[in-house]
Amino acid sequence: MHPVINVAVRAAREAGKIINRASLDLDLLRVSEKSANDFVTEVDRASEQAIIEVLLKAFPQHGVLGEETGTSHGRADAEFRWIIDPLDGTTNFIHGLPVYAVSIALAHHGVIQHGVVYDPSRDELFTASRGAGAFLNNRRLRVSKRTRLEDGLIGTGFPFRRGDDFDAYLEMFRKFSQRCVGLRRPGAAALDLAYVAAGRYDGFFELGLKPWDVAAGSLLVTEAGGMVGDFTGEPNFLEGGELIAANPRIYAQMVSLLRPYAAARGDAAAPTV
Ligand code: IPD
Ligand code: CA
Ligand code: CA
Repeated sequence: MHPVINVAVRAAREAGKIINRASLDLDLLRVSEKSANDFVTEVDRASEQAIIEVLLKAFPQHGVLGEETGTSHGRADAEFRWIIDPLDGTTNFIHGLPVYAVSIALAHHGVIQHGVVYDPSRDELFTASRGAGAFLNNRRLRVSKRTRLEDGLIGTGFPFRRGDDFDAYLEMFRKFSQRCVGLRRPGAAALDLAYVAAGRYDGFFELGLKPWDVAAGSLLVTEAGGMVGDFTGEPNFLEGGELIAANPRIYAQMVSLLRPYAAARGDAAAPTV
């Protein structure tokens, strides 16, 4: 394993300990709502703090973009920046539904070089370094080999924020449910991407995502032989909000279905990586 990944794994496991401990007594959990249906807990914050501590101790010259603390830690002008989702799937976590993960990626001038997605309830560790492949607990990952969307199991995320375009999503939902074997909405985008990399799904799509939801998972997918892009198939997925990830054959078919729903360029308001 690349030495940088070792540090990211250590950070992810520290966060995993915090999350697992808290999951044993969810009644004690203090929850607040960032905006309608968008929750944060003290566990999200503690997890982010633990991750940043490990990363900046090893790499004090790096920058950080964290979901909960933004760019307030690390060096603002650094060429290397860690992109952190300390708990992806907070709504599941609050309800005791064990589908959540820690996501940590390192970008160099905005290009993801390393990624870790860690599912602490299953102890599944997904890692990737650019050019060196993707792994689940040290076993090499490959995307699925299915070639027809008609045979595909597809992951997605439903809209849930006020202001989301529910009608457009319902059209996409109808098209996909009529065309593929099944649609799934587990509720943690970073894990969804890890599952595409592992061939558990044949493809995944969602709108309204943020860089920390997809930074690590996108590298897992490409390093496992898959493709990631926006609804037009272009690589503007990190800051653009909309994302398709799939094996190459299914990817092309998903782009054909989703292209009509692509955002006009310049619509997205995601933080810059
Ligand atoms: C959310 C999850 C969810 C996705 C949302 C994300 P959070 O992240 O990834 O699956 O549908 O768009 O915001 O808030 O639990 O870290
Ligand atoms: Ca997230
Ligand atoms: Ca989160």
